[in-house]
Amino acid sequence: MNNKKAFIFDLDGVIVDTAKYHFLAWQKIAKSLNINFTHEDNELLKGVSRVRSLDIILGLGNVEASQEDKDKWLIQKNEDYLSYLVDMDESEVLPGVLKVLKLLKDKKQGIALGSASKNARPILEKTGVLSYFDVIVDGNDVSNAKPDPEVFLKAAQLLNIDPKNSIVFEDSVAGIQAANIAEMVSVGIGEETILHEADYIFKDFTFIDEDFIESLIKK
Ligand code: BG6
Ligand code: MG
Repeated sequence: MNNKKAFIFDLDGVIVDTAKYHFLAWQKIAKSLNINFTHEDNELLKGVSRVRSLDIILGLGNVEASQEDKDKWLIQKNEDYLSYLVDMDESEVLPGVLKVLKLLKDKKQGIALGSASKNARPILEKTGVLSYFDVIVDGNDVSNAKPDPEVFLKAAQLLNIDPKNSIVFEDSVAGIQAANIAEMVSVGIGEETILHEADYIFKDFTFIDEDFIESLIKK
């Protein structure tokens, strides 16, 4: 029997702790518009595209804006976000991630990225993990944002593996919902209170051991 599964990783907040940089950059935009934007609000933005994130923030402050202004803020946000990534290196890979990537490679599993970010490739390069990925599907490749399952379905398709034989690691509610809609196994990385729709939840990758990976491969 062929036990090859597709293991699909989200990027921000799963492989690297960039969620904090997205938050800081959005907070600057929100502040300049006098919009109160909290850590709690930020959960709504996780896994969500840049354009949609701005709309959510503007909605929080009931701010109506022209397309021209929106385009300006989107550029500002990304420039600010990228400024946090200039010195990024291997040390920013979240604890336990490398161990799991190595394990999956040793076990000859399919490994994919399934991220909403348009900055995914340079981040994977800078942090030295690009070569682990057989397939990369990011914000440049999809038209529908999570919770639409497009990004994960595309990743599984490129790996030539059935969605039912696919496992998604996600830190966002929208991403867990996308994996569930795709009928993939959803593994939440983060808080149980937030990610309760996931099939499995771990605080971080250090809690994921070889036995768990084996059980997913044999499923
Ligand atoms: C997701 C993040 O991975 O990518 C979101 O969770 C972010 O917070 C989205 O807005 C788009 O990222 P980028 O890098 O294209 O602005
Ligand atoms: Mg994420």
